[in-house]
Amino acid sequence: MKLEFYTTYVNFIVFPDGERYIRIKGKLDDEVIVVQSTGYPQDENLMELFLILKNLKSMGIRKIKVVIPYFGYGRQERRFKSGEAVSAVIIADLLEAAGADEIFCINLHEENITEFFQIRVHNLSAMPPIAKYIKQNINNPVIIAPDKGALGFAKEIAEILGCEYDHLEKTRISPEVVETKPKNLDVKGKDAVIIDDIISTGGTIVNAVEILKEHGASKVIVSCVHPVLVEDALLKIFASGVDDVVATDTLLSDASVISVAQLVADALKKSG
Ligand code: R5P
Repeated sequence: MKLEFYTTYVNFIVFPDGERYIRIKGKLDDEVIVVQSTGYPQDENLMELFLILKNLKSMGIRKIKVVIPYFGYGRQERRFKSGEAVSAVIIADLLEAAGADEIFCINLHEENITEFFQIRVHNLSAMPPIAKYIKQNINNPVIIAPDKGALGFAKEIAEILGCEYDHLEKTRISPEVVETKPKNLDVKGKDAVIIDDIISTGGTIVNAVEILKEHGASKVIVSCVHPVLVEDALLKIFASGVDDVVATDTLLSDASVISVAQLVADALKKSG
């Protein structure tokens, strides 16, 4: 197959009143791949994406594959209280209405988000590139999930690396005392690598770091897929005494040292 590369780009303008303008310049194939992460500023990034998609469709593009490395609004994927908007469903509907034909995301906050779409959605796992980074940089790690919800990530990495994994769990010692510690593992003298999907305020991670230090971990390295890192979250995490914080580049941040480019490229190739 002969590949042809064109210089095509999107020209963005923000008008003085805050409205956005886009113009697609250059040659287009009848199949197009659009890459847009929808982290902060979520609403602006989403609006740009809707404008791009609808525009491409009206320009006659047959198939649009959309890569959304971080799917914003993914944490409101159900109605927790009556009257709440299920934001993830609404975003899914809008993406489809705008013209997306196939979607590629990385570690959606909940797998059930894929069911909100009528079109094909690939929920890729960033655990292989994170495991590769750990292998190259940390000797004899143990992988720790900060809560049971993240245990699947720890297991996936540990299975790739052939190392131990665990999650932190609260145990009631007495009516007044609750102790949080690794459920099965003794982390004393070990290099503990915490893994979570999202770090937002950093609260979950700081708590986990303190517990692992109390239990004698010699080093604590923090890893995550999506470094949302609100305000001074990264500072707070370093202030808790971690040795390093690493994340993928689904969102850009000072911790985004692990590339997901190959993961996405492989998935796009495989999708045909
Ligand atoms: C929770 O379900 C997620 O997996 C993360 O643990 C959570 O979003 C982290 O938030 P924060 O950094 O604000 O504690």
